[in-house]
Amino acid sequence: MMSETKSVLFVCLGNICRSPTGEGILLHLAQQQDLESRLLIDSAGTSGYHVGQPADLRMTECASRRGYRLLSRSRQLTHGDLHEFDLVIAMDRSNQEAIAAINSEPTATVCLLSDFLEGDWPVDVPDPYYGGADGFEEVVDMIEAACPKILAQLLE
Ligand code: 4NP
Repeated sequence: MMSETKSVLFVCLGNICRSPTGEGILLHLAQQQDLESRLLIDSAGTSGYHVGQPADLRMTECASRRGYRLLSRSRQLTHGDLHEFDLVIAMDRSNQEAIAAINSEPTATVCLLSDFLEGDWPVDVPDPYYGGADGFEEVVDMIEAACPKILAQLLE
């Protein structure tokens, strides 16, 4: 039997740090488990500040040291995304609010990355852009911890 394709969109502010990392890590996990053909995995930013740009080099290098490739180009979230994707995962509450402002009646399930975490994690994935190296490591830590649960929910 053909299984239906499920789609997930990671969303942050610039679409050059946190959400490309979500996309890259979930894709890696899906490929490892030979599930790539059943999933559509993408990312977008609530701002248009960096449209067309690849992921931030600090983020790309941090992810690469942990075995992940970040290949996306920044694009801005659209109203249509909130109908076209099954699951939309905001990296923090501020982006979750921005999503609600773009489309107050999405058909997508909109949630926070931290909804997929158990234990002592922050509610928001901290914005690493203006901080030091630790911030980029924390982005990978949080997303790595959440991705198995995200995958499980998508395949339910
Ligand atoms: P991101 O990080 O939302 O994780 O992609 C940021 C990237 C750029 C800016 C802020 C956050 N910025 O202000 O340009």
